[in-house]
Amino acid sequence: MVSLLKTFLEVYDHNKISKVIFLSFLLLFISTFSSKNLFAQENSECLECHTDPEEVDIKVRVDPVTGDVEIVSMLVDEEAFHASAHGGEDFYCIDCHADLEDVDLEETEGGHYPNLQPVDCITFCHDDPAEEYLEGSHVQLMRENDIEPIPTCKHCHAGEKSKRDTPKADDLYHRKDTIEKCGECHIEYFHSYRNNLHGQITALGHLDTDIATCVDCHGQHTILNSSDPESTLGPENAIETCGNCHPGANDSFIKHVAHPQYKNLGYYKSALVALKNIRKDPGQIESIVKSPQIILTILFVIYIGLLLMTFTQFGAHTLLSWLGTILDERKGKESEHDK
Ligand code: HEC
Ligand code: HEC
Ligand code: HEC
Ligand code: HEC
Ligand code: HEC
Ligand code: HEC
Repeated sequence: MVSLLKTFLEVYDHNKISKVIFLSFLLLFISTFSSKNLFAQENSECLECHTDPEEVDIKVRVDPVTGDVEIVSMLVDEEAFHASAHGGEDFYCIDCHADLEDVDLEETEGGHYPNLQPVDCITFCHDDPAEEYLEGSHVQLMRENDIEPIPTCKHCHAGEKSKRDTPKADDLYHRKDTIEKCGECHIEYFHSYRNNLHGQITALGHLDTDIATCVDCHGQHTILNSSDPESTLGPENAIETCGNCHPGANDSFIKHVAHPQYKNLGYYKSALVALKNIRKDPGQIESIVKSPQIILTILFVIYIGLLLMTFTQFGAHTLLSWLGTILDERKGKESEHDK
């Protein structure tokens, strides 16, 4: 910028009027756009302190949303920041830490005031995803279920060491974290996901985008019930959703049980009720037998039954033959004694 200015001034040196005009245009430009990089701090000014353990340390802070007390390091891991979604060339610290804009760091004792406003992800940058998320039915359901506090952008988009290091979508830590964050509230579905091939593969540490996490099937911010036609898993969309990874997915492929819940007593109860009502309402058992979850629970019962039978027979056999041996030995000893 400075060298550009110099060249301009050299070229215009012989012409005072155009120099004045040029300079006033430049001033107008600067004052209108109040460019952050000309007057305010460069990242390097912030990093001078924030990469130096002599200058900054850890700090105890209270999360303004959850009220949790957290211990955070004031040291910025430059590498982690640059690898994050906001680590590109065109991101400035003060874009997010906006209350430090125009603060003269040279003049402020110790750098700047200690408590800064929490970074606002929504107002200036991400109002679209925010609306999609905050006004969607998923958040509505959380409110109806008295879930407090509602998960924030920073809850789901935090980096491994600092909330600052917003991970990119394909970041492996983020994909793992997402499964855990959804799982915090949906414990049964989390466990049943882990009972399925997708969940087992991700549990083994393979988290690339080719294997399904919760959001690959359910969507990211707009999460709807699978029976909703608009849902990514709705009857119209499921083939496409699964088809992203399983080319050739068809109607029968999507009948696959993504959440095998053979430990869910609800399915056993509904099967028993249907059996009880078999005379009154034979339709009930017919529809229930078509449900993949019920078929799964019945198979599970048969499997456990077979296992139990095998082992009880095996156990009884061992026990009896052991008793037999002891009795035989006794008889042998007694007859020796008699002799
Ligand atoms: C002279 C050293 C120095 C400079 C330069 C500096 N900081 Fe800091 N910064 C600190 C110290 C020290 C703390 C810890 C304050 C405390 O313990 O309360 C801190 C804390 C912070 C915090 C956490 C505040 C909070 O509420 O917990 C942020 C964010 C931050 N600095 C951002 C920046 C940004 C952005 C810049 C550049 C515009 C910058 N700092 C420049 C020394 C500095
Ligand atoms: C894309 C937005 C963004 C950018 C760019 C950004 N930060 Fe932050 N920073 C955050 C968020 C979010 C937090 C978490 C605290 C909060 O919610 O306000 C944070 C927290 C911090 C903290 C407190 C430690 C912590 O882990 O909470 C420091 C220090 C800090 N940033 C310094 C910097 C410096 C220095 C830069 C420039 C190199 C920078 N930040 C760039 C968003 C950003
Ligand atoms: C319940 C967890 C969760 C919450 C809360 C959440 N997100 Fe997301 N968001 C995700 C997941 C998962 C993805 C997909 C992976 C990715 O792109 O990081 C995503 C994707 C994104 C993307 C990139 C894709 C796009 O739509 O452009 C942006 C930007 C984003 N979220 C912003 C936000 C903002 C802003 C908020 C707060 C209003 C927020 N998110 C709240 C989970 C969440
Ligand atoms: C803070 C808690 C919380 C988090 C985190 C959360 N959910 Fe939910 N979710 C709920 C509540 C509450 C409901 C409504 C009652 C229920 O089905 O348990 C719900 C409902 C759902 C539904 C059914 C929607 C409907 O319309 O019936 C799906 C699917 C779902 N969540 C998936 C997810 C996924 C995927 C994630 C991670 C991106 C996630 N949830 C994260 C609390 C949460
Ligand atoms: C392979 C795709 C897939 C993955 C991965 C997946 N689900 Fe599901 N999920 C489904 C399907 C299909 C249904 C509907 C049938 C059922 O209930 O089993 C469903 C049902 C649900 C429901 C009940 C509400 C509804 O929409 O029917 C919740 C809650 C849920 N899943 C949460 C999760 C969570 C949390 C994860 C991650 C731990 C996850 N799911 C991972 C496909 C998936
Ligand atoms: C993000 C990618 C992804 C999505 C989305 C996805 N899967 Fe998978 N799925 C995989 C991978 C990877 C495997 C393991 C490798 C393989 O195909 O054998 C797998 C395995 C399976 C298997 C085991 C059988 C087999 O092919 O070896 C079934 C069944 C299955 N998925 C069904 C589904 C259904 C139904 C959906 C949609 C509700 C779905 N998947 C969505 C990636 C995905």
